[in-house]
Order: sequence, then structure tokens, then C-alpha cells
Amino acid sequence: MKIVENALTPQIFSELRNTGPFIPYEEEDIIYALEHSLFNVVIYDEQKAVGIARLIGDNRLTFIIKDVVVLPRYQNRGVGDLLIKQLFKYIEANACTNAYIGLMSTPHKEGFYEKYGFIRRPNEKYGAGMVMFYKGGKISE
Ligand SMILES: CC(C)(COP(=O)(O)OP(=O)(O)OC[C@H]1O[C@@H](n2cnc3c(N)ncnc32)[C@H](O)[C@@H]1OP(=O)(O)O)[C@@H](O)C(=O)NCCC(=O)NCCS
Repeated sequence: MKIVENALTPQIFSELRNTGPFIPYEEEDIIYALEHSLFNVVIYDEQKAVGIARLIGDNRLTFIIKDVVVLPRYQNRGVGDLLIKQLFKYIEANACTNAYIGLMSTPHKEGFYEKYGFIRRPNEKYGAGMVMFYKGGKISE
């Protein structure tokens, strides 16, 4: 396996995400999003991209882990672990003390993230994570 930093292309992004429970996006929007991400990592087996992950955020206080995907036939072989460790090398080089490292888990993957110290929400101290899938139109009035 080969780890390559900041090698994520719109093609690889869509190909891997389309194997999981993720909403597809237009290529022009993916290009924009990748250009405005902090960091990404691609794991290759020979020439084939088999795992991806990226970080978005303000590069100091806040880091959000997004689009962690391993091709189904490569799962449970340590690729996800390589991805998260690579993201944390970047975070360790850039985050301040108490930086917020967030993510939204897909169903039944919470245990994978707990291994790295992530806390399941909601709990007594922290409310639920929340999300919206914006469909256009005004919410601001
Ligand atoms: C979640 C995902 C990235 C994990 O990648 P992976 O390559 O299968 O994980 P690894 O083989 O590196 O596993 C690392 C460790 O996590 C554990 N683990 C993996 N999936 C787990 C799960 N669902 N629950 C609990 N532990 C899990 C493994 O047992 C392993 O533990 P070990 O180090 O003690 O042996 C992968 O299953 C995936 O891409 N799923 C589909 C897309 C998705 O849902 N992504 C998450 C988006 S939030």
C-alpha cells in the first residue's frame, strides 16, 4: 500500500464515495470543495486508489474529518487505520491545544472512530450532532 498526500481527484473522490452510503455531487462542486479542503490522503494498492479521507476546517481551532472511505473489498485490512493516522499527522502539526476535531459517523462505524478517542454523541455533556442537506431556497428570512 502506498500513502499519497493531497492526491485526491474528483474522479477518485466520486468512485470511492459511490461505493458507500453517500450523496453524489456534481464534478464542478467537488473540484471547488477539494480546492478548499485543508488536507487529503489517498491510499493506493499499485495504481488503484483503495482508500480516501479529507480534512476541512480553519487549520487551527477546528478540523472536520470527511469522506473516509475504503473500497469494500479492502475493508478490515488496516486501510482505514492508515487513513486516520495520516489525518492525525496533519492535525498534530497544525492544531492548537483543545482544537475541535469533529466528524459525523455513518451507522455502525462509531466503534471504528472510538478507537482513536472520538466520543459518541449525544451524551450527558454534549448534545446530538446535527446536519442539514441544503436544497436551495432561503432559510434566512
Ligand atoms: C469505516 C471504514 C473507513 C473502516 O475502514 P477499514 O479499512 O475497514 O478499517 P481497518 O481495517 O483499518 O480497521 C481499523 C480498526 O478498526 C476496527 N473497526 C473497523 N470497523 C469497525 C466498526 N464498524 N466498528 C468497530 N470497530 C471497527 C477494526 O477491527 C480495526 O481494529 P484493530 O486495529 O483492533 O484490529 C470502512 O469500513 C468504510 O470505508 N466503510 C464504508 C464507508 C463509511 O461508512 N465510512 C465512514 C464515514 S464516517
